[in-house]
Amino acid sequence: MFGFFKKKQKEEKKEVPVPVEDFEDVEDLITYFKNETGLDFFNKREIIKNKLILFCRKREIFSFELLYHRILEDQSLKQELVDYLAVNETYFFRETPQIEQMIKKAKLLGYKIEILCAPSSSGEEPYTIAIMLLEAGYSDFHIIGIDISEKIISKAHEAKYNERSLHRVTDELKHKYFTKNGEFYILKNIIKDRVSFRRVNIFDESLFSLRKFDFIFSRNMMIYFDSETKIKAKNILQKLLKRPQEAIYFGHADMVG
Ligand SMILES: C[S@@+](CC[C@H](N)C(=O)[O-])C[C@H]1O[C@@H](n2cnc3c(N)ncnc32)[C@H](O)[C@@H]1O
Repeated sequence: MFGFFKKKQKEEKKEVPVPVEDFEDVEDLITYFKNETGLDFFNKREIIKNKLILFCRKREIFSFELLYHRILEDQSLKQELVDYLAVNETYFFRETPQIEQMIKKAKLLGYKIEILCAPSSSGEEPYTIAIMLLEAGYSDFHIIGIDISEKIISKAHEAKYNERSLHRVTDELKHKYFTKNGEFYILKNIIKDRVSFRRVNIFDESLFSLRKFDFIFSRNMMIYFDSETKIKAKNILQKLLKRPQEAIYFGHADMVG
């Protein structure tokens, strides 16, 4: 009987093999990511590699090859990775002269204007456009914000911001359009109702199910694209303009290179 227990104890001590990690070759993942989203990480290999290693370890994925195969099969894992890698930096009242210019043109049109904000990130840019239009006395408009990141689109719907996002907003406008709740600012419905959001990749066909627009803002996304992809993105967005001669508003760094 005792012999049986000794044998059992020995069996229980059997060691579980530690999986061997292989995080060397990141090329396939970077290429896949560039083809899918336009985001070009070839010049930031080491940074992306380290970020991807953290992403994998958290999910017990032990090689880049395995991650690559998993994202091909699993849409939600792919979306998690997109959410994780996309650079969402944004804030209210960023690069306002272009918005002022657009408002001047809108006033001349004299009908309900449709604006596309691609990408919208967490909503600060389209909401700024809405605030500025209302402050300029123009209320006949609707704005659609799109972004590839699902996580960031749900933040845009929530419209709850911290002090950092609002560092360019005057106290007067904060008071007028936000409700303070602890350390957060909650955007009021008078602005929220003017903007709708959709998760859309600008390279997907679903982009063309959106209506056409009087004005398009596409700022601070193409900085992460290579020259060829920038041109491709610009041509795609151009097709969404109601009047083809209208210029798209890009960020200052977007068309460099
Ligand atoms: C730096 S933010 C810019 C936000 C805002 N336009 C601004 O200027 O403050 C860039 C955003 O582009 C989005 N993005 C990147 N590639 C995209 C794609 N292919 N389609 C749609 N959105 C994309 C990212 O998820 C990110 O939220």
